[in-house]
Amino acid sequence: MNHRPLWRTPLDETMKRAVTQLRATGFARFEALQSKDLLGLPLECFGPFTESWERLDPDEWMGDGGTYRRRRFATFSVEGGSIARKPHQRHYQSRLHNQLNGGVDRWFSPVEPEIADHSITHGLLSLGTSLAYRITDTAETHWHAEMHQFRIEGKAFERATPTPEGLHRDGVTLVIMMLIGRRNMLGGITGIRDGEGRNLADLELASPFEMVVVDDRRLQHVVTPIKPIKSPESAVRDALVLTFRPETAEPDAPALSRVRQDEGRFRAREIQKG
Ligand SMILES: [Fe+2]
Repeated sequence: MNHRPLWRTPLDETMKRAVTQLRATGFARFEALQSKDLLGLPLECFGPFTESWERLDPDEWMGDGGTYRRRRFATFSVEGGSIARKPHQRHYQSRLHNQLNGGVDRWFSPVEPEIADHSITHGLLSLGTSLAYRITDTAETHWHAEMHQFRIEGKAFERATPTPEGLHRDGVTLVIMMLIGRRNMLGGITGIRDGEGRNLADLELASPFEMVVVDDRRLQHVVTPIKPIKSPESAVRDALVLTFRPETAEPDAPALSRVRQDEGRFRAREIQKG
């Protein structure tokens, strides 16, 4: 499916702010209306998209034995504004980036075809590749993207955390974390930390379509456990995570120290990209 190559078109104001903030601090938060602006989509198309979170399957690869996470997974090739879904494949992270669940091929249920093909998904894939291109010192226009639909169900008697691996990087270039929905829930605070773990921000995504975008080469992230406001009903937190790395890159990106050395060079290049 062909989409406008966003990185070759003039930037609108919201996009410009996003790029500026990502370059300056390594992360950017967007309210729901800003997300909708960036995606350029009408409100009506969000309903059927979010309903698909009712049909996620259990994550059977939880190193902590937890039964609180459901998910679906898909991968994409995004090149020059063209988006193509890849054949269903494993999800792999090294133990460097995921000490709990890394080091093994994990297989998850595929994202439903109509959701993978949805204009929200394609809008986010275009947005992510556009931002990744603009914050990196690369002429790379071919990106590998991964899409994770997550549901965390928190019960009073079980620790339920959106990031059981703890504070981490995903080993990619850019990460988009978008809240899809939440109910009966306390916790779920998104923490943004620098390479040494120093606190940069604690963000609460409260409304559907609020999102945080993180330069994963520079920063780490974590989300605190959730628990129900009222028992015995479960707390529920639905989220969409998209990751982006150059198609030719290994799944695990360079270490943070290496990235820091490169910062001067990619900042200089960003000025040229505008
Ligand atoms: Fe992550």
